Amino acid sequence: MKLFVYHTPELTPTDHLPDCAVVIDVLRATTTIATALEAGAEAVQTFSDIEQLLQASDRWLPEKRLRAGERGGAKVDGFELGNSPLDCTPEQVGSKRLFLTTTNGTRALQRVEKSPIVITSAMINRQATVRYLLDTQPETVWLVGSGWQGGYSLEDTVCGGAIAQSLIASVGQEIIIGNDEVIAAIALYQNFEADLLQLFYKSSHGQRLLRLNCDEDLKYCAQTDILDILPIQKEPGVLVKFC
Ligand code: MLT
Repeated sequence: MKLFVYHTPELTPTDHLPDCAVVIDVLRATTTIATALEAGAEAVQTFSDIEQLLQASDRWLPEKRLRAGERGGAKVDGFELGNSPLDCTPEQVGSKRLFLTTTNGTRALQRVEKSPIVITSAMINRQATVRYLLDTQPETVWLVGSGWQGGYSLEDTVCGGAIAQSLIASVGQEIIIGNDEVIAAIALYQNFEADLLQLFYKSSHGQRLLRLNCDEDLKYCAQTDILDILPIQKEPGVLVKFC
């Protein structure tokens, strides 16, 4: 397995795709997607564009859908939910389709949606991601951070490092390091693994979420391996629970 880390979607190559793309938006889109599917959502359908989300969700039965999303971290006006994973309780999302738009995470998904396999990861489901990669052994794997509007995000790269470190710890030399970013991501993870929350507090998006009173979201997103669930793309933009 040859492993690449890309800090942002904009840094991914444009002339080819990997066998498996792992999209990461720890704060908070991919944490929310994993939590919603764990809580029994039928699927999470992602959009970078609010208009397209409204059109697609209008074709869905109102009692079977929830519109969720943020711009600049704050809930989109008129939507039932924002992008907080803590809102994704079984009572709220059970058996419903979540129509989700976010600033960066959904854009990252779009960038790699034509890859043969697309999965999403966050710290909360890091080990489920690693297990899937070890079981299926894709030849090339891209770990793609969502960043923030084209810039690098500490929390996404640290999650890439956590996945890479665990893969290497499991099968060592079977993992080929595809770019220097893998080594940088692992070094970042090793530096902060004992206290990821402190790293999230330092990060620019962590600061933004703190200003929006989302401290509890940061604490939740900073937990490692608490959910044994893997979101996988079943059609472009639509994520379901991998069984
Ligand atoms: C994003 O996609 O940019 C994030 O998930 C934003 C957020 O924290 O809601």
